[in-house]
Amino acid sequence: MNIGSQSSLDTDPNWAAPDGCNRKSVSNILRSRASVRAYLDREVPFETVHQILDTARWSPSGSNLQPWKVIVVAGEERERVSRLARQALAGNPAGEDSDYPVAPDNLASPFRERRSLAAQQRYSAVGISRDDAAGRAAFVERNYEFWGAPVGLLFATCRNFGHSQWAHLGMFIQSVVLAASEQGLGCCVQEAWAKVRETLRRHFSLPEDEVIYCGMALGYPDWSQPINSVRTSREDVANFTTFLGF
Ligand SMILES: Cc1cc2nc3c(=O)[nH]c(=O)nc-3n(C[C@H](O)[C@H](O)[C@H](O)COP(=O)(O)O)c2cc1C
Repeated sequence: MNIGSQSSLDTDPNWAAPDGCNRKSVSNILRSRASVRAYLDREVPFETVHQILDTARWSPSGSNLQPWKVIVVAGEERERVSRLARQALAGNPAGEDSDYPVAPDNLASPFRERRSLAAQQRYSAVGISRDDAAGRAAFVERNYEFWGAPVGLLFATCRNFGHSQWAHLGMFIQSVVLAASEQGLGCCVQEAWAKVRETLRRHFSLPEDEVIYCGMALGYPDWSQPINSVRTSREDVANFTTFLGF
């Protein structure tokens, strides 16, 4: 089953697709996609992954720097990377030192509440209670198996690049998400991999002046799994936009 034919994926209750709206239109994909954390045991062909990246490379970037590098792992290499991450974290659960923390230590309101709600939604979908620390840890650890996806992507950039280039990399990653959805694939962007940045950099023999930002699980969604029914919400436009001069 592919994302485009999964009507239950429609997550925006206020949105009615205009007549003739292509199910794979950007609007439709943006309003219906959701992070996928359980996958079918079905291979994603090399050509499909290549096609996704071949589309995403047309993302804009300041001065057209194209400050992105992608490593795609499947098969035995995916297993190897998974094993490596688990080993690295077994000896150091807090993760490796990073010049680029994933989020500030004291996340302010309303961001703290949003993060907490999203986590709560995931745990309740899989029946893990608030006080089940071991269950939560085991769940989070599934990140390092790419949530069971057959393909993993790791996104890197140059260490001396600043916030602008990281933002451009983010635009590229969003393009990958859209292109993957168009192909009927599901994905989950994963900052969890930031905990093993250095281990991965060495494993892939990346030069010291490059840094891995995050990973992505990619594959065909297993819609029978409750975790894939999680639907997050978003703020209304009025809550984050100032319109002037209209
Ligand atoms: C940059 C980025 C990093 C993320 N890191 C993780 C992660 O490490 N593990 C995970 O399960 N989900 C991760 N997510 C998924 C978010 O939790 C998810 O996008 C958010 O809760 C909104 O839900 P939705 O994607 O289903 O719309 C990440 C998403 C983004 C964009």
